[in-house]
Amino acid sequence: MAIFLFASFILASAQGPSAPGKPLPPGPMQARVKAACTSCHNTTRITEQHMTREQWSTQLEKMEGLGAVIPDEDREGFLNYLTKNFGPTKGAGKKTN
Ligand code: HEC
Repeated sequence: MAIFLFASFILASAQGPSAPGKPLPPGPMQARVKAACTSCHNTTRITEQHMTREQWSTQLEKMEGLGAVIPDEDREGFLNYLTKNFGPTKGAGKKTN
C-alpha cells in the first residue's frame, strides 16, 4: 500500500510541468499535430504563437532538427492547420489565403 501511494505521488507530481496546455483547435490535422508536436512540450508552445506560413515552415524545420518527426505527406497539412489557427494577428501583415 505504501509503495502504491508513493508511486502515485511520483506520477502525480510528474504531471505538473507537462500539464496538458491549451487544447488544439479542431481540424483535420488536429490529432496528427497533437501526436507529432506534444511529446517534448505541451500545446501551449504552439497555441501562443502568431506566425506566417513561412515562419511556421522554418519552425517545423527547427523542430525536425530537434527530433520531431513530420511525415512529408503531412507537412502541407501541418502548415495549413498551423497558419489557419495560429497565423499572424489581424492587421499584422497581409493574409495570404
Ligand atoms: C523532439 C522534441 C520536440 C518535438 C517533437 C517538437 N518540438 Fe517544438 N520545441 C522543442 C524544444 C526543445 C523547444 C524549445 C526550443 C527553443 O527554445 O529554442 C521547442 C519550441 C517550440 C516552439 C516555440 C519556439 C519559440 O521560438 O519560442 C514552437 C512554436 C514549437 N516548438 C512547435 C512545434 C511543433 C509545431 C511541433 C510539431 C511539428 C513540435 N514543436 C515538436 C522540441 C520539440
